[in-house]
Amino acid sequence: MQSEKQAQWVRGYCEAVGDLLTHEKVQQMRRYPHHKPVDTLYHSVYVSFLTYRICTAMHWRAREATRAALLHDFYLYNWYVDKHEEGHAWYHPKEAVKNAEHYFGPLTPMQRDMILSHMWPLHLMPPRSREGMALTFADKVGAVRDFLRLSKRFEPVYTCIETEMKRYARPADPC
Ligand SMILES: [Fe+2]
Ligand SMILES: [Fe+2]
Repeated sequence: MQSEKQAQWVRGYCEAVGDLLTHEKVQQMRRYPHHKPVDTLYHSVYVSFLTYRICTAMHWRAREATRAALLHDFYLYNWYVDKHEEGHAWYHPKEAVKNAEHYFGPLTPMQRDMILSHMWPLHLMPPRSREGMALTFADKVGAVRDFLRLSKRFEPVYTCIETEMKRYARPADPC
């Protein structure tokens, strides 16, 4: 059973991203493996939930940042199979921005920068905002957990988010 504090985090998170999370294109991220054994949607929910918690605790721009974090890997292809001229690490942030703006309208400058710079320090382009630093940090934590096979520990929270987000099944707002 989740604690009341955790339930509050889940409710706040779903208020920020529920409309995006229920969108069919965001749900499509389930089809694509990210770091084995997790799919891209599971990874993105973990990373955006952690970004939400950091930004809320620090009184930063949590809603704007959490929405960008959910879409930071919104590249919609199987990177183990589908190859591009540029390596995946360099190509996918640009594809995520393109898809986010195609399906949900213009991103804010901060959201755009957060997504494009989330691979820092592999990319030599650090985030320009503290919210972007939170996303980059959360992404690294998520990746390490995936590789250490610790990702399943997030499943109880993920299940609560899935249950809560059913209340948000309506067309997405612009970011
Ligand atoms: Fe990524
Ligand atoms: Fe990621």
